[in-house]
Amino acid sequence: MADQLIKGLEGVIVAQSQSSKVDGQNGRLLYRGISIEEFVEHQAPYEEVAYLLWHGRLPTRAELDQFSAQLASERALPEKVLDAIREFPRSADPMVVLRTVVSLMAMYDENPDDLSPDNLRRIATRLLARFPTILAAFHRLRQGLEPVEPRQDLGHAANYLYMLNGEEPGPRSVEGVNAYLVLLADHGMNASTFTARVVAGTQADMYGAISAAIASLKGPLHGGAPPRVMATLEKIGAPERVEAFVEEALARKERIMGIGHRVYKTWDPRAKILREMARNIAEETGNRKWYEIAHTLEQAAVSRLAAKGLYTNVDSYTAPLLYSVGIPVDLMTPTFAVSRVAGWCTHLLEQYADNRLIRPRAEYVGPVDQHYVPIDRRE
Ligand code: COA
Repeated sequence: MADQLIKGLEGVIVAQSQSSKVDGQNGRLLYRGISIEEFVEHQAPYEEVAYLLWHGRLPTRAELDQFSAQLASERALPEKVLDAIREFPRSADPMVVLRTVVSLMAMYDENPDDLSPDNLRRIATRLLARFPTILAAFHRLRQGLEPVEPRQDLGHAANYLYMLNGEEPGPRSVEGVNAYLVLLADHGMNASTFTARVVAGTQADMYGAISAAIASLKGPLHGGAPPRVMATLEKIGAPERVEAFVEEALARKERIMGIGHRVYKTWDPRAKILREMARNIAEETGNRKWYEIAHTLEQAAVSRLAAKGLYTNVDSYTAPLLYSVGIPVDLMTPTFAVSRVAGWCTHLLEQYADNRLIRPRAEYVGPVDQHYVPIDRRE
């Protein structure tokens, strides 16, 4: 057994997975061996990617129809869960709302502790179906509006936008959000996925593992970056101010949000696709401002930083894309969770099926040979 301290477990392989392959040198991401570009090129619905991840193969048309219908039928929240959301403070962070409601859902599940693959897939389907409903319900309520009931005739992405905004979204917006959900569905052993696996490793229930994953995704070093990108775009304010902003930021040795990645040392393949989607949405909605600032920022930053292996990452276009379809800044990280729940559940299916308690060690660096001093003799 290695006795070496590896801070942050960087580079340590903690599990085998057949779900996604991240190739940081070549800027590639594969789901079950298929390049992410192919899903977007063929306009694969997010539901199909979830099926692929959970079952290990693409569904037939009949299987996809059945899975999509099952997801749609699971969208509505139990009345008691909705009542609980009504009581939440309007100022609550939507990530806290999501993590709390997932935990709450365990109490209304008929069989949360059965870890057999069929039951785990049933819970995974329910979780994936309900993330958008939870967020949209809270978002409506905090604005003093009634939640919009989910529709069964819309796909996952379209229904999410419909429940958030109360009106049917345009085709480019649906295409863009669907692509976003597809592109973020899984990404190797990232922090939230590892968190979920640690919980599952103790044979605790899936709701607990997923609420822990949400807690982990919330941090600014993981899922919390898009709001910071949006803040940068807002601060810049107009495309013609980008050059000066970049010059000044780099002179002050500041980091430009949306640039750089721990694994990708070339273009992040997801950013390239989201750039296209963000441009399409800008055209559909007529709101070109955020796309144009983001695009000008990309050109100005990458031309100066590519030599250091710094390119735009997935968050650079996530922010303008989601913002343009009516997803407010504090729902960006929760929308990341709407997508990533597919990957979390895939890794949980793997972990439960081939489990070993995840229990590393700490190197003790505190004192030894100390003695207990009775309280009345302490200084
Ligand atoms: N803007 C300007 N310079 C950057 C930079 C950025 N966004 N990201 C990294 N660099 C520079 C560092 O200053 C460092 O330069 P130096 O070698 O001259 O000191 C070099 O690139 C390597 O940085 P390092 O911190 O080792 O990279 P990392 O792999 O640890 O960091 C990120 C990866 C994502 C944390 C980092 O790129 C970052 O902070 N990006 C901005 C935040 C963001 O977009 N996060 C979303 C990630 S998906």
